[in-house]
Amino acid sequence: MAAGIDDISVYIPKLYLDAGDYALMRGVDATKLRDGLGVNQMAMVDSNQDPACLAANACLRIMQSNKLSPDDIGRLYVSTESSFDESKAMNSYVIGMLEQVYGQGSFEHCGGVETKFACVSGSYALYDNANWIRAGEAEGMNALVVVSDIAKYDKGSSGEMTQGAGAIAMLLNDEPRLLAFDPKVTATSIKDEYDFYRPFGKETPIVHGQYSNLLYLIQVRNALEIYKKKAAASGIISVGEGRSVLDYIDHLNMHLPYAKMGKKALAYLVRHEWRSLPRWKGVIDKVGMPEPVPKDPRGTIESILGDAEFMESDREFQKRFTRTDEFQEVYESKLASSLVASSMVGNLYTASLYLGFRSTIEFEFQKGADLEGQRFGFGSYGSGSSAMIFSGVIQPGYVQLARDMNLEAEIGPRKRLSADQYEMIHGNQLSPEESILSSSKEFVLVDVNTTPESRGQRRYVFNE
Ligand code: HMG
Repeated sequence: MAAGIDDISVYIPKLYLDAGDYALMRGVDATKLRDGLGVNQMAMVDSNQDPACLAANACLRIMQSNKLSPDDIGRLYVSTESSFDESKAMNSYVIGMLEQVYGQGSFEHCGGVETKFACVSGSYALYDNANWIRAGEAEGMNALVVVSDIAKYDKGSSGEMTQGAGAIAMLLNDEPRLLAFDPKVTATSIKDEYDFYRPFGKETPIVHGQYSNLLYLIQVRNALEIYKKKAAASGIISVGEGRSVLDYIDHLNMHLPYAKMGKKALAYLVRHEWRSLPRWKGVIDKVGMPEPVPKDPRGTIESILGDAEFMESDREFQKRFTRTDEFQEVYESKLASSLVASSMVGNLYTASLYLGFRSTIEFEFQKGADLEGQRFGFGSYGSGSSAMIFSGVIQPGYVQLARDMNLEAEIGPRKRLSADQYEMIHGNQLSPEESILSSSKEFVLVDVNTTPESRGQRRYVFNE
């Protein structure tokens, strides 16, 4: 039985921090954000928004645009790393909000959990729900997988340049209009790591930035090796002599903590894939230098990062490599469109990969590309750490959805935060009733109870 993504909806908060304003505030070069990281704007939540109401807003959008009733939804999963309760799952808050619109008890039948594994958990949730459908358990119903997060870092930290917020809801069923998952190819890699983590009670993560960058690349590559074997075994991709598995993937969507990380990841994967192929010699000639090798080629991530000479020459190699026509062709045809939305919105943690997927469809369609039958690869990464590679094929029904996609219109008119407003939002100095924007047709947070017997209980309303 087929299983896949039938539709996708996006909810991005309307406040944003401009890269130039951030650079002025912190005394850094704006070019580092715009060109070095690919960050132009970072979406910010207002004081009356939390990850649960972002998720509920994304769910409502997908239900309304598809004229779905709660009876059409058999499972509702929320994947997040911005959880605010150690016990109560975020999907229960979301159901509470949706029932304000659809009626008390209307989602009573709808099972689900909150899933957590940094940014990769949404991909595990998609996989599990796809298997629920494949197993015939759905009985005609759909699953909703919602990925929702607020990426917030300490003031003045290097991570502060890579913030963002938003939610994406994906409707899954056995007759998907958008993308049918390739069966038996999902590949994972996992390792106990501390590249990025958020201990209990801490609002912002502890981050080892450069370590996390390299670990992301290594883990994704490990998962790709497994994907290659599974794709060959299942007969989905049979790699011809002198070719790479990437030649058979038309579009690649990578986890995007910032847009440029997608390009870094593509370059890393392509280098590893092409190194043993006949085409590599011509590429090396154009690069004009041999590929650098670390002093300790089988060393740890720390030893590689500590090898200053290697790091310097590898950066130079990468710069020259990414300028070759061969790499540019792969980049423009397979990845560039997925980065557009990320540079407008920032990191959405669990939702970043899927915003990239949405971005590919919207911007490739606008370019006039015919995506039907094309294979999309997904490179998911979550700190801590795990990577997942999987793929799927775009279905004929996608056109009907792609022609209505308009990210700017879906976000709506945005408000650029002043430096003072940003500091107040970042410092949690505003209460929900002091929100900067007044919203309509959206769920918002009203208050969080502080009494000893009901501490932490959240009240939401749907603003008519
Ligand atoms: P940094 O270390 O300050 O930045 O912060 P950098 O020195 O590496 O510079 C970044 C890029 O800008 C470099 O380009 C510079 O050359 C360039 P590259 O060499 O990499 O191609 N640059 C400039 N370009 C133009 N003009 C200039 C200029 N200056 C420098 N003037 C870092 C970067 C990503 C480490 C930081 O933002 C950070 O810690 N972010 C948070 C962690 C993160 O995003 N890690 C990514 C991988 S882990 C992951 O994705 C998981 C995550 O989403 C969490 C989860 O799973 O839940 C984070």
